[in-house]
Amino acid sequence: MSELDSVCRLQAEIWGSAEVAVPATLLKVMSGAGGIVLLAEADSGPVGFAYGFTGRSPSGQVYHRSHAAGVLTSARGAGVGRALKYAQRIEALGRGLSRMVWTFDPAQTGNAHFNLNLLGATARSFRRDYYGIRSDALNRGRLSDRLVVDWFLDDSELAALHHHQPGARRSVPVPDRLRDSSAPGEMKDAYRELRVGLEAAFADGMAAVAYDRENGAYSFATLPPGTPGSVE
Ligand SMILES: CC(C)(COP(=O)(O)OP(=O)(O)OC[C@H]1O[C@@H](n2cnc3c(N)ncnc32)[C@H](O)[C@@H]1OP(=O)(O)O)[C@@H](O)C(=O)NCCC(=O)NCCS
Repeated sequence: MSELDSVCRLQAEIWGSAEVAVPATLLKVMSGAGGIVLLAEADSGPVGFAYGFTGRSPSGQVYHRSHAAGVLTSARGAGVGRALKYAQRIEALGRGLSRMVWTFDPAQTGNAHFNLNLLGATARSFRRDYYGIRSDALNRGRLSDRLVVDWFLDDSELAALHHHQPGARRSVPVPDRLRDSSAPGEMKDAYRELRVGLEAAFADGMAAVAYDRENGAYSFATLPPGTPGSVE
């Protein structure tokens, strides 16, 4: 329980609000019922966490639904985030699950780079206002639009995705104002602008496969035939 308490404390600290942290009692139940709860510790103490539970799509596909992962600001950029995601992957595979799903804010381009470029996940769908209005430090003043990410955990599926040379490609730019502005009104307008580009690409059957940091844009592609569809 003390390790689970550490996960709750880390979540509150990273998101700047106790409101977003799930209770340790729920993490306890989750971890005993097929969920995965991970804590990363350095010599200085706990620095990061990841947790999720087993999801089931309406058509019966079973997958690991990751809910949150975070690393203290002071410990970022040293590979802890990747180590947590890879540990989560190994745990999920050990439970017979070959797919992991989570969401992220499309305006958080650092997360886009982490999820799409470093981990090799793909974003298959988009949800407007997923969580309504949020007031924690990471979400205040923003819309809660979310990209839904699919991460194929089986090596052969990952390789098939990466070696595929897609025919159709499209670039969806993230408005500069979303990265630079702190004015909530301007930021919300920029979210709405990004929405239009993302929704159009998904409506054309494409998926976001990378984030182009040089040009500040999502790279969309048509996925190989037979690639499983989004579960959420
Ligand atoms: C995303 C996060 C878990 C990555 O943790 P980490 O320990 O820094 O991850 P790693 O060291 O393995 O990878 C670092 C990469 O993540 C990128 N990154 C993503 N978000 C970042 C952030 N908020 N701050 C710094 N780097 C971030 C870095 O650019 C870096 O890539 P680069 O070395 O190619 O430039 C961490 O930044 C974090 O806790 N962010 C706030 C909470 C959050 O957004 N959670 C994820 C929701 S999907």
